[in-house]
Amino acid sequence: MRTIEWKDGTVILVDQTKLPNEVVWVKIADYKTMASAIKEMKLRGAPLIGVAAAYGLALCAFHSKAKTREELLKELEESAVVLRKTRPTAVNLFWAIDRVMKKANETKGTKEALAAAVVAEAQRMADEDVEVNRKMGKHGATLIEDGDVVLTHCNAGSLATVDYGTALGVIRGAIEEGKNVKVISCETRPRLQGAKLTCYELMRDNIPVTLISDTMVGYVMSRGMVDKVVVGADRIVRDAVLNKIGTYNVAVLAFEHGIPFYVAAPMSTMDQSRSSEDAVIEERSPQEVTNIGCERIAPEGIKVLNPAFDITPLEYVDAVITEEGILVPEVSLKKKRKD
Ligand code: MRU
Repeated sequence: MRTIEWKDGTVILVDQTKLPNEVVWVKIADYKTMASAIKEMKLRGAPLIGVAAAYGLALCAFHSKAKTREELLKELEESAVVLRKTRPTAVNLFWAIDRVMKKANETKGTKEALAAAVVAEAQRMADEDVEVNRKMGKHGATLIEDGDVVLTHCNAGSLATVDYGTALGVIRGAIEEGKNVKVISCETRPRLQGAKLTCYELMRDNIPVTLISDTMVGYVMSRGMVDKVVVGADRIVRDAVLNKIGTYNVAVLAFEHGIPFYVAAPMSTMDQSRSSEDAVIEERSPQEVTNIGCERIAPEGIKVLNPAFDITPLEYVDAVITEEGILVPEVSLKKKRKD
């Protein structure tokens, strides 16, 4: 199911804060509302926020009252500043904005030609995202065997992308090849993307899934209940994978139990310009930790830490599945052991 669509000068998307209880589609007509939707996590997931930011620029261009190409370029630059401030960790957001702005700057001619080029580029990026995920799914499926139980963390599915998903795309790819695959989904505290979104989309597609709390990962691995781990990524820097908080725990436990740990991510998630030393980790509201839904679970006045992502050294990663193929990090500890 496509998570985001351009329709007659608006963007339609599923409000993920309402899932799984309600499926509510929202219509967004301007870039400021798009920026708020990204910030409030009505949509989330690295590839999807990239495409949403590109559509934000498309909305700005489509509805602009600018009289000249130069005026429109200035408006686009102002929108890009607002969109860049929404979420800091997923590199896809910055990659997407840079790509659309490059297209805008290269497009000569009238203001109308520029607006049309920006909208077309955003649409192209949305379509490419689906193609890229399907390619990743095909490559990744070669790592999955018939009968495997695959553990995943957070949501790296169609809801985190335009469609099909990265980590869940690999599972879909294996199933499309006729393999029997079962999934274990970690709930993913504090925002529960695993429980709310991964379980929702897998059940919707009749893919067998079992929910566990994050604290159960060691237990299920030690009991031989997990064959492989596949997760997504928000940014892959020179020495590490940045992904949803809790991913590092899963990776270390997988290593300890000799379970392959795979990361599925498009090339747009790669950031070779940085290392884990200079990675920016988003810190979110303390309320996400002190409350579960509307219920407060911690004493008033408690000090809280709420990093939304963590850093898994590449040593723990057996392979990175991309649309271009499967990459094995040089430093992979397991690789070193095999050598
Ligand atoms: O905070 P979120 O829900 O945007 O975090 C999402 C993740 O961490 C995903 O695992 C990641 O973006 C990969 S999505 C294909």
